[in-house]
Amino acid sequence: MGPIRICASLACADYLQLGRDLALLEAAGVDYLHIDIMDGTFVPNLALNMDLMHAVRSATALPMDVHLMVEHPETYVTRVAEAGAKIIVVHEESTRHLQRLLAQIHAVGCAAGVALNPHTSLQVLDYVLDDLDLLLIMTVNPGFQGQRLIPQMLRKIADGRRLLDATGRDLGLMVDGNVSLQNAGDMVRAGANWLVGGTSSIFMAGMTIAEGVTRLRATALACPNESASLAR
Ligand code: DX5
Ligand code: ZN
Repeated sequence: MGPIRICASLACADYLQLGRDLALLEAAGVDYLHIDIMDGTFVPNLALNMDLMHAVRSATALPMDVHLMVEHPETYVTRVAEAGAKIIVVHEESTRHLQRLLAQIHAVGCAAGVALNPHTSLQVLDYVLDDLDLLLIMTVNPGFQGQRLIPQMLRKIADGRRLLDATGRDLGLMVDGNVSLQNAGDMVRAGANWLVGGTSSIFMAGMTIAEGVTRLRATALACPNESASLAR
């Protein structure tokens, strides 16, 4: 398992103070800005887009990982890359041609991730493991902030970590949804190392961004991954 990565979910930032929040996130030492793009069809909500990414890129050097929650994701890959994505994550459920899509993402110079909705089995990844750099296990149903962790997802994280480690490659396992200061420890112990922080941690009422990032990272680092200690 690679190092812990803290990804701040920009959809949870204060839109009226976006420049300020970007500066605070950078100062707090987040590793990535997590950009949730929603089309109102794949998920019943709308969020963020490439225009916003261009604006964000002009304001910060932080890299962006883009979580595409859209139908026809292949339509957007080139423009998302042009808008500054370093990593593009697509939902397995959103395409009939996942392998081709992952190749398309690599062809535009980005790392490729696959996201799985809570009900989707890890088995769908069996024949695309060579084509992916990151697995995103949705720990809530995608589309809305402020939801509660689906408890069965902890077992899925552990199963996912075993699947990734069996490749012998250093593949990241990202979790998205209710990555709270309470849940993050269990998630990291199960094998997650890319943590998306939203309203449950980084953008919490009553806590500054700096405190949220520091506490989330400290929680993660205090919980060594069990499968990693077995494997190495
Ligand atoms: C789901 C979203 C949310 C968000 C995380 O589609 O991606 O999971 O980033 O925010 P909280 O912490 O509110 O779950
Ligand atoms: Zn997301």
